[in-house]
Amino acid sequence: MSIAASRCAARLIQRSLRSPLSTSSPLRSAIPQSSYRSTRLSIAFSTQFPSRRPFSSSSSLLHGHLDPPKPGEERKVTFVDKEGDEYTFVVADGDNLLDIAQANDLEMEGACGGSCACSTCHVIVSDPDMFDKMEEPDDDENDMLDLAFGLTETSRLGCQVKMSKELDGLVVKLPTMTRNLQASDFAKR
Ligand code: FES
Repeated sequence: MSIAASRCAARLIQRSLRSPLSTSSPLRSAIPQSSYRSTRLSIAFSTQFPSRRPFSSSSSLLHGHLDPPKPGEERKVTFVDKEGDEYTFVVADGDNLLDIAQANDLEMEGACGGSCACSTCHVIVSDPDMFDKMEEPDDDENDMLDLAFGLTETSRLGCQVKMSKELDGLVVKLPTMTRNLQASDFAKR
């Protein structure tokens, strides 16, 4: 899609967000049929989370800032990416894995912004003993985990895991794929 066509589509989307999407919406004709489903999902997310950009194919690094840990609250966490490379960070109690990953430019989309409404922050805890130290996932997290690609016995949603003294030294793997309900599907077309 050309830049002009993208801008036109963005305007149409903004207009459509002000009124319900109907079968007669100009979106139907402005957006290629093959892209319609992904765009409709993006609109749904944009409506639910209005602070996010309504139309974008770029990754959404909206967090990006963590306060430095206070003395005595430094915790180590290691992420292992798809290529097997390890990245260790010193973070603070209370920091969640999504914020840590995004603040350090690791590949974790977090499409819903940490609202437990997607599965794009899926991580796999390497050590089952460490997994057992975590608080049990609640029903919302379990529902979203059911949608995660490559679910394992030690899967969690990164946005729901907060660092603590018990989790010092945590190692998590990033899955090879995530189920993406937002814009990167769109960008591949
Ligand atoms: Fe969507 Fe974690 S970012 S569930």
